Amino acid sequence: MNPAGMPDLCALILAAGKGTRMMSERAKVLHPVCGVPMLKLVYRAVASLGPDDVFIVIGQDAEQVRRTMEATPARFVLQEKQLGTGHAVMAARKQLSSRGGDVLILYGDTPRIRTATLRKLIDHHRRSGSTATLLTTRVSEPFGYGRVVRNKKGNISAIVEERDATAEQKLITEINPGFYCFQIPALIEALGKLTNDNAQKEYYLTDLIAIEGGEGKRVDAIIHEDFEEFRGINTLGELAEASRIMREARNLEHMASGVMMIDPDQTYIDLDVEVGRDVTLYPGVCLEGSTRIGEGAVLRRGCRVVDSTIGPGAEILDSSLITDSEVGAGSTIGPSAHLRERVRVGENCRIGNFVEIKKSTVGNGTVAAHLSYLGDAFVGDNVNIGAGTITCNFDGLHKNVTIIEDNAFVGTAAQLVAPVRIGKRSYVAAGSCITKDVPAGALAISRGRQVNKRGWVERRKKGPRKGDDKLPQLHQLGRRKPRPDRG
Ligand code: UD1
Ligand code: CA
Repeated sequence: MNPAGMPDLCALILAAGKGTRMMSERAKVLHPVCGVPMLKLVYRAVASLGPDDVFIVIGQDAEQVRRTMEATPARFVLQEKQLGTGHAVMAARKQLSSRGGDVLILYGDTPRIRTATLRKLIDHHRRSGSTATLLTTRVSEPFGYGRVVRNKKGNISAIVEERDATAEQKLITEINPGFYCFQIPALIEALGKLTNDNAQKEYYLTDLIAIEGGEGKRVDAIIHEDFEEFRGINTLGELAEASRIMREARNLEHMASGVMMIDPDQTYIDLDVEVGRDVTLYPGVCLEGSTRIGEGAVLRRGCRVVDSTIGPGAEILDSSLITDSEVGAGSTIGPSAHLRERVRVGENCRIGNFVEIKKSTVGNGTVAAHLSYLGDAFVGDNVNIGAGTITCNFDGLHKNVTIIEDNAFVGTAAQLVAPVRIGKRSYVAAGSCITKDVPAGALAISRGRQVNKRGWVERRKKGPRKGDDKLPQLHQLGRRKPRPDRG
């Protein structure tokens, strides 16, 4: 997988469980931590070691998990029924037994693990020649974790799950965070001896430690101090907590590299987002997915930017939403603008309040300052889109294209009925409903001619004219009949 990586090592990530304690329909490992599914984070930590192969055991929501990971070279192993973590390893028996070397086994619900820690585990395992090695750590509140039981000599004799532990064992503060390295042949042999004789009637991966140890094989552990890295996620509360910690750490990194945050506690940046120097982020900004923010850009309060690129020096004003789009250098978007999907706004544009744009490109220096909808449009450079201009792009069956060429001036409240082309340097008069192409340099006016009836108001005040008595009076419109006077 990685020529500079670790030879004779493969990894097995267990990700088949439902995660009952999440109280969610979605497979636990797909829940995102700062925008990235936790399984992906575990996978990245493993892939950076450069193992020969990474296998992911899938079961619950298998198709969705497969789809989430399919862009990686990971291979999938199906565990049809989820009968426990040991059973998940059994599901991969075929893939493992054809090879020698070591296997790193870990869970898909421990997203904060670092590559360096995994490397420490494998190096120790190989140096000591142990048949199995695991990481352990000490915690003040061990509740929920498997406890590490040691014999009088101090060697590990077993791992006991919370639900199987005696009152005395529950007091043990050395826990099993769930990272193991096994010599493959010995693991295969031990798998044949696993039983489900425990409180949950499950096959526990952790029992392999007692099995191997009981046969006099060398089982070793290294104690790692940083428990935080090992936190497993079993509930939505733990998910939110892990996200918070990772977000805080990432925000500190951003600030250290020159990103200014008015209030880092209210700045939400997904892990894969890139933010340039001298960017200013106001409270409530959410930067999600694969978003990139260019140097010196300013994002005001409450903007959300998803899978989009914001050019250097651009300014995104309060409460704007930008998804799957690009904003060129020096442009201003918002307040309350919506670039909905596949929008490319050029440089030095101004897209103002309540403007919605979808699947369109907008050239450089173009202005659409107020209350407009541009859909399926190609808008050139230095175009003026008057307030309230609407591209009528949908005829009930198809989406049609509007082309507005360079330097065109579209007056206020124009309706451009697509498909239609507005030529270079042409003018569209305010309030026009444009249904035919406008040639370059032309003025198009398409609206009812105005008639002024002089003195009309005065005449009306002088009382009803002939025939007016047959019309309903103003006060009767939309009301019930007035009740008869009871006085
Ligand atoms: C497990 C360990 C426990 C350890 C803790 C650390 C066992 C028996 N216990 O407990 O000692 O302290 O992790 O976080 O291993 N999975 C499958 N197939 C299954 C069951 C689970 O693939 O049949 C996967 C899940 O998707 C999950 C992982 O294995 O990603 C761990 O399962 P989980 O049920 O969360 O184990 P814990 O009870 O936390
Ligand atoms: Ca867990």
